[in-house]
Amino acid sequence: MTHTKLCDLVHLPPKEAELLPRGWQILGTVILVSIPDALRDHANAIGDALLAMYPRCSTMLWNRGVAGRFREPICEVIAGTGETETVHKENGCYFKLDTARIMFSQGNLVERMRMARICEDQVVLDMFTGIGYFSIQIAVHSRPKKVIAIELNPTAYHYLTENIRINRVEDIVFPMHGDCAIKAPENIADRVIMGYLDSSHEQLVKGLLAARSGGILHYHEATPTALTYQRPIQRIKDAAQACGRSVEMIGCRTIKKYAPGVLHVVVEVRVK
Ligand SMILES: C[S@@+](CC[C@H](N)C(=O)[O-])C[C@H]1O[C@@H](n2cnc3c(N)ncnc32)[C@H](O)[C@@H]1O
Repeated sequence: MTHTKLCDLVHLPPKEAELLPRGWQILGTVILVSIPDALRDHANAIGDALLAMYPRCSTMLWNRGVAGRFREPICEVIAGTGETETVHKENGCYFKLDTARIMFSQGNLVERMRMARICEDQVVLDMFTGIGYFSIQIAVHSRPKKVIAIELNPTAYHYLTENIRINRVEDIVFPMHGDCAIKAPENIADRVIMGYLDSSHEQLVKGLLAARSGGILHYHEATPTALTYQRPIQRIKDAAQACGRSVEMIGCRTIKKYAPGVLHVVVEVRVK
């Protein structure tokens, strides 16, 4: 339906029209879209057309993926005012961010909503918190005792502190700026969230040590489909052995397709 509308607004020969994007992401007043390189010369027209379809949006970004340790977007303004800072609403919470500098994965929405319901009265450690994707929603919906939110990227940390203020959870979410390999506390958390896909296995010992006895670890990983669940489970077991803790499996879930042949999965274990 929306693809048909886009085809009506951007006049292209049928072969090129077939390549027009079929989906896009809307974050607050910003639209992010992936455009095939073959349509590069039509990027501005595509941007103008999408802005015409969503009058409440004001900036159009060509999304080319994310890069680096901080998962920063690679993108370019193709239409609109060029203002990339916005406030996005998800699950009743507000997230201020600069969409050109900070990613926001809509594929993780269901997991964020699930986590937001299950932390009542608990101490939560969110080791790779970003702008507070998990931490804010947990604080707003679960009313936990406390959420410790650690973030290394200064830009993401800036928006984390803004989002704590905007959502009025200053008494629940305690932000820490720095590397969770150094900052993560020990023996304290009822739940530990490790939601970073690039190399969080390197911090598994830290995550396990942060859990109190009986606490639950939520370990996210981008795993080749051939090794789904097997690799993250083995990594958790190896880390537990290395730090003198033991684990009991609670469950595994696939969150989304991450890349061709790679899945984003989460494994949950009780730490003893
Ligand atoms: C993109 S977020 C995770 C996404 C989130 N789980 C979601 O629901 O979409 C991962 C964050 O981990 C941060 N990060 C990477 N290495 C870190 C480290 N060693 N300590 C603390 N934060 C780190 C990155 O800067 C990034 O903001």
